[in-house]
Amino acid sequence: MKIPDQGLSREAVFARLEEYRKDDTPWREGRTWAYVYDPGPEAESVIKDAFGSYLGENGLDPTAFPSALRMENEVVAMAAAHLNGDDEVVGSFTSGGTESLICAVKAARDRARELRPEIAVPEMVLPETAHAAFHKAGHYLGVKPVVTRVDPETFRADVGAMRDAITPNTVLLVGSAISYAHGVVDPIGEIGQLALEHDLLLHVDGCMGGFLLQYFARLGSPVPDYDFRVPGVTSISMDLHKYAFAAKGASVILYRDRKLRKYQMYACSNWMGYTVINPTVQSTKSAGPIAGAWAAMNFIGDAGYLEFTRKVRDATVEIVAAIDANPDLRMLGRPDMNLLSFASDTVSVFHIADEMKERRWYVQPQLAYGSSPENIHLSINPASVHWTDAMLADLHECTEKAKQLPSGELAPKIQEAFGHLAPEELTDDLFEGLLAMAGVTGTSLPGRMAEINEVLNALPVPLRERLLVEYLNVLYKA
Ligand SMILES: Cc1ncc(COP(=O)(O)O)c(C=O)c1O
Repeated sequence: MKIPDQGLSREAVFARLEEYRKDDTPWREGRTWAYVYDPGPEAESVIKDAFGSYLGENGLDPTAFPSALRMENEVVAMAAAHLNGDDEVVGSFTSGGTESLICAVKAARDRARELRPEIAVPEMVLPETAHAAFHKAGHYLGVKPVVTRVDPETFRADVGAMRDAITPNTVLLVGSAISYAHGVVDPIGEIGQLALEHDLLLHVDGCMGGFLLQYFARLGSPVPDYDFRVPGVTSISMDLHKYAFAAKGASVILYRDRKLRKYQMYACSNWMGYTVINPTVQSTKSAGPIAGAWAAMNFIGDAGYLEFTRKVRDATVEIVAAIDANPDLRMLGRPDMNLLSFASDTVSVFHIADEMKERRWYVQPQLAYGSSPENIHLSINPASVHWTDAMLADLHECTEKAKQLPSGELAPKIQEAFGHLAPEELTDDLFEGLLAMAGVTGTSLPGRMAEINEVLNALPVPLRERLLVEYLNVLYKA
């Protein structure tokens, strides 16, 4: 493939783009229960126009584009007030949860470099439910993750285990509000006390829950404290492109004070070009995402968010009750917000997910890890709640159907053939063999994912990760 000799017409460009979309998850119909945070068409059209109108402005230089600076200051101030920060709380707009977490980990690392220079390899204490982006941040920044168990019933962090994991090299503690996998809030108050006792930083990952939990609390749900009112909390991340319904590319990272934020920033004058001074990871960046986020918050407004929350809360209650009532399914923990997961002791959840896909639903399989068995995750959207009864009826039927399908045969074979291998022993031939056992041939995306999920689920974590990288490296052909 090469660039066409002559440009296509506008009509041809959009016709092609629409054609490319045909196999995507059908989120616009509201049948997608992960990945998409959909406020419905009215808000979407406002956000899209705001995003598009600032597409070309460059957020790199706030002196050249004061509009981007102004929008950022307003969005960050609204976010800080939302999380009950006082006048000292400051923050930055970032491209998403991962970037916000990279910033938080960098700030902790660089603060330790200045104040505790004796630390050679800094460590952060992560409950098993902390998002993978912390591991990625640690990998990029040379901060070692020290993973601690969570309660196997509630899936909340075990504060005793976190206490035991603190060493002279610890620079950061982490808690989630909410965790992605099970949708629960960690005991942030107790972790805050631990942070204060040991004079450590505490980051609260509110990427998923930071925004909407405030509304859940206002509607009377028993939300544990997690924001800047909790002593010991030093930074909070909160994605706007999740449940504040901004367009993707929008999150904030907030710090208790300016002194902490400075460690996240980067300046370079050590070259021949313009002065580089970046508050966050990105440099040149469209002002579209900040305009989209600004528009979402201003257009939807507090009353609009409260109404969205009421809808997703009611749907969550209904879904949890339906799962509790199905003898083949069992909830993992009790959700504090509108994300949940459930497992099965009698049926392959991977087959259930595939059967649901045949009926044009997207539900998200999650692999077993630690005390969390393989399961299905749902994130509930305002634009999906009218489907709740239909989705649940299909979930029950798909569970029955999945019971008839063969499962559990691959796992022992995979464990026997590959379980003992170190990741570096996975040669190209072995990799092909593994994929073939999972029913994957060539480079096209498999229609059903149950076998590949079963294979991944059966492998030890380092081999899983290696296989995923190999697979992705093949999938992106170009
Ligand atoms: C709790 C939590 N933290 C961090 C992230 C990472 O966010 P992103 O995918 O925007 O980088 C997610 C994503 O789902 C999340 O749920």
